[in-house]
Amino acid sequence: MFEKNQTELRKDICEIGRRVWQRGYVAYNDGNISIRLNKDFVLATPTGVSKGFLSPDMLVVVDMDGKQVDGHLKVSSEILMHLAMYRERCDIASVVHAHPVYCTGFAVAGEALDRPTLPEFVVALGDVPLAPYAPPSTPLLGESVKPYIKDHDVFLLANHGALAIGQDVYQAYHRMETLEQSAQISFIARMLGRENVIAPSELDHLQNMRQTMGLTYPRDCLTFAPGSKSPVNRSDDVNEATVEAMVRKVAERLIQEMNRG
Ligand code: 13P
Repeated sequence: MFEKNQTELRKDICEIGRRVWQRGYVAYNDGNISIRLNKDFVLATPTGVSKGFLSPDMLVVVDMDGKQVDGHLKVSSEILMHLAMYRERCDIASVVHAHPVYCTGFAVAGEALDRPTLPEFVVALGDVPLAPYAPPSTPLLGESVKPYIKDHDVFLLANHGALAIGQDVYQAYHRMETLEQSAQISFIARMLGRENVIAPSELDHLQNMRQTMGLTYPRDCLTFAPGSKSPVNRSDDVNEATVEAMVRKVAERLIQEMNRG
C-alpha cells in the first residue's frame, strides 16, 4: 500500500495551511495542523506563525506527551488538544483546527450544528457537537472535546473555533470545508426566516449512505497505548485501522447483497 514519507507529509501540512489561510478560515497566526507519523510521534505546526506561509522546515515533531523532539520553532500551544484526539481515535491520522467565520459564529452563539439541513452535511459529518469553553493552550481544551471525540469527526469549540479530524490531512481539511459551508448556509436560511430540515422519512436513506461509506460510529478499534517510545512504521498501526475499516465495509456490502438475493 502506498505510504507517504515525512517529507511529503510536511508538504501536505504546508498545502493545507495555505488553503486554510486562503479561504479565510484563519486570521493572522490562528489555527494549527498536525499529522500522526506513527504511534509515538506527531508532526505539527509551530506556534505563532501564519498558516498561509509555512515551509516544511518550520514544522516540528513531538512525542505523545507533547515533548518536542525535532524542529527549531516551538510547537503549537494547542498541541495537547491534538494529542487528545489521537489518543481517543486510532483511526485518524490528522487534526485541523481553524476559526472559520460562520461556524465560529455558531460556536460563539452557543449553538451546535445538529440539524439535518443538507444531504452532504448529514452524510459527510453526521451532526456537529459544541464542546464547552475551555482556556486555550491548556490541557482543559482537549478535556472539553473528549466526551465527543469517539462519535464525531468535526467539533465546534465554544467561543473559540472548529476542529476536524480525518484519516489524512486532506480528509480533515475537507471536513472543515463542508462544516463551514453548512454553517454559512444555515446562517443564511435563518436570516431568511426559515431553516427547513430534511424530513425524518428521508434520513434513513442518508444514514444508509453514511453507513455504506464507513462513516458511522462506533469505530471499534483500539486506541494507541501512550508511553512506548519506540517509533513504529505507520504501516504497522494507522494502516491496520484502515485495513480493518475496508474489511468491515466489504463485509457490510456482502451482507447487504446476501439480504437482497
Ligand atoms: P498556535 O499558533 O499556538 O498554534 O495557536 C493558534 C490558535 O489558533 C490559538 O487558538
